Amino acid sequence: MKLWGGRFAKDTDALTDHFNSSISFDARLYKQDILGSIAHVMMLGKQNIIKEEEAVTIKEGLLSLLQDIEEGYVEFNVKAEDIHMNIETLLIHRIGDVAKKMHTGRSRNDQVALDMRLYVMEEILAIKDMLHHLMSVITDIANEHTETIMPGYTHLQRAQPITFAHHLMAYFEMFKRDYKKLEFTYEMTSSLPLGSGALATTTYPLDRQAVADALGFKEVCANSIDGVSDRDFCIDLLSNLSTMMMHLSRFSEEIILWSSHEFHFIELDDAYSTGSSIMPQKKNPDIAELVRGKCGRVYGDLIGLLSTMKSLPLAYNKDMQEDKERTFDAIDTIKMCLPIFTAMLQTMTVCKEAMYKAASGGFTNATDAADYLVKKGLAFRDAHEVIGKLVLHCVTHSTDLENLSLEAYKAIHPIFEEDIYEAIRLTTCVNERRVKGGPSKEAVLDHLKAAHAFLEQS
Ligand code: ARG
Repeated sequence: MKLWGGRFAKDTDALTDHFNSSISFDARLYKQDILGSIAHVMMLGKQNIIKEEEAVTIKEGLLSLLQDIEEGYVEFNVKAEDIHMNIETLLIHRIGDVAKKMHTGRSRNDQVALDMRLYVMEEILAIKDMLHHLMSVITDIANEHTETIMPGYTHLQRAQPITFAHHLMAYFEMFKRDYKKLEFTYEMTSSLPLGSGALATTTYPLDRQAVADALGFKEVCANSIDGVSDRDFCIDLLSNLSTMMMHLSRFSEEIILWSSHEFHFIELDDAYSTGSSIMPQKKNPDIAELVRGKCGRVYGDLIGLLSTMKSLPLAYNKDMQEDKERTFDAIDTIKMCLPIFTAMLQTMTVCKEAMYKAASGGFTNATDAADYLVKKGLAFRDAHEVIGKLVLHCVTHSTDLENLSLEAYKAIHPIFEEDIYEAIRLTTCVNERRVKGGPSKEAVLDHLKAAHAFLEQS
């Protein structure tokens, strides 16, 4: 029997039941649904909308149902459509007619909005924990590599020397922004839709603030139409997760490049690599590749939900049932990616020599050579021209700035002295960049200090 069967002269077609039903994917909201119902009925009891002892009976029935679901004794029924009506139907079977009072002053529209908000809030906390762990692993590795020189790139061409710590801390900043965005989304989600009813609230004297307090919401949705039709909190979360996946994907791309023979800047641990079924020598960075690949599905979840919402008239429309699979998929994906990515990072070996060698060969100190001339009195544009000529000379003679004789320097400009070699030493290039945010050990240690402070207070 359908809970809304009264108005219907015959049963729905099996195809309709199957098509309309969301229980196959919203079953995971059982806990939020039950906790929301308990807060609702207890408030109904307090407000004398139902009897207090009826509220307690319903609450106890719901708690025993919750336990049975968690222990795997309960099977949901596709004919009961969704998690909300499954639980109500099961409760009626369990405790009898009193359960029929549970839905007083409530609609499935505000109920499902409540469940989704509770779910999203809980998952944001779980994702924040995982992200926090990733950020602390990044700072641990960075701490060990404030003197590990590597080339920094632009256009994937060697540009200027930096340290591995400096490079890693760029990712720290990206993840820190992601973390803060999640906090903002949590705050936006923390608004209670229950009490909105189907769209126009109710004539019962509900105490919405009491329900908000019981469920840990910061406030009550100020407009009932918005309360039931708003899915911005899902979209915001999917947008946060898309950006986070983009960051993970860029990091993955670098890990894939670095673990190639051509770079060999890092070596992934065997526990986080895979082999080839045909080529015995292969050790592939599958995890990084999959994280990079899964970025696309989270974007898809975001674009899908935005598209679902874009033309919906107010207030609730059944289209909105489509929020669930997308939101769940994005959450599941990020919760799979974050821990394994962190473990892969934590266990990789850093090949300092290869990094240093790569920084040495490609004129990454050419800017510093030009700055040397500026310090000797040349205008920067003239200095740039002189060093450009020197680089061309080195390229045609297959050498580099470090190995050029002082005569060769002087042949291009007489101002060069013996101290040019010190000025273009990679450690000088890195450690003279003391500007806040720069690669010098000093500057990176300052950044790390701030990073640790952030992690401690978050
Ligand atoms: N399963 C529905 C959803 O996920 C619950 C709300 C249904 N409301 C309604 N009026 N049909 O959106």
